[in-house]
Amino acid sequence: MRAIDENTITDAALEQMSSTPDPRLKEVLSGLVRHLHAFAREVDLTPDEWLEGIRFLTAVGQKCTEHRQEFILLSDTLGLSSLVNALHDRRAAEPATKSSLLGPFYRQDAPAMQLGSSIVSQGTGSEVAIYGYVRDAAGRGISNALVQIWEPDETGNYDLQKHDPSVMNLRGCFRTDSEGLYYLRGVCPTGYMIPMDGPVGDMIRAQKRHGYRPAHIHFVIGASGYRELVTALYIAGDDHIDSDTVFGVNDSLVTSLNKTDPASPFPNLPSIRYDFQLAKASARDRMSGRVGADPSQITKKEASANSR
Ligand code: BEZ
Ligand code: FE
Repeated sequence: MRAIDENTITDAALEQMSSTPDPRLKEVLSGLVRHLHAFAREVDLTPDEWLEGIRFLTAVGQKCTEHRQEFILLSDTLGLSSLVNALHDRRAAEPATKSSLLGPFYRQDAPAMQLGSSIVSQGTGSEVAIYGYVRDAAGRGISNALVQIWEPDETGNYDLQKHDPSVMNLRGCFRTDSEGLYYLRGVCPTGYMIPMDGPVGDMIRAQKRHGYRPAHIHFVIGASGYRELVTALYIAGDDHIDSDTVFGVNDSLVTSLNKTDPASPFPNLPSIRYDFQLAKASARDRMSGRVGADPSQITKKEASANSR
């Protein structure tokens, strides 16, 4: 019987797990155990602190509903989601637009719309044109690409936060034209605070962080034969552009709101223009690049797993 102490425990746990047949599961869980143990040793974790951590994670789980995924919010606010995005981008076969957070307000059931339509069905925000091309790595336009877009209203809230699935506002799905052009009308986005009424909000307050995200517009863009792009555009000049609570901003995704733009399909509206670049899909892209999901889909999956 070996003596288990604060150093030998790590090898003992790894040895017991070495029977894991799935090599990737073995790699991920062994790495997790090594780093978790190193973390506990580094901070000299006490039993009370360990219990507080368990209480916190329990509260995070209890806050999850069909409309809310508090674990993803935790991952976002710890910078883990952005790190996973950056690692995903590094695996692309070709240069492409950088990924950014999917966030907790994506919905799979957004309506299909004609190019040029407005995604505003309620509210009074100031109207803007949003347009540009979806291109391949050689700069050629990609026709028939699916552009999914969603944004908050002028008070900084998404339709999903109304907790009424029949309310669908400020989101839509568009197909690029034969040249790869997309164009639509939305509202000028405003920055907002992440959901702060749960345990993640308590953590943010304990850390004296402001909790804001800079103004942004979300996109998921896909086309047959290309790697799906999950990203967001950030509006230059926002007070929180350099201190996003969830670390989603990348310089290459910062764009400006143009007051006049003769090249816009809606020259009388202020406009945001951005050209996206998709990388060719490779064999490594079988798995999704979405760091997040429609919360109702996550709870549906959990329910069906529990009924098995
Ligand atoms: C969002 O942009 O919608 C978002 C992303 C991460 C956490 C909270 C909100
Ligand atoms: Fe958002």
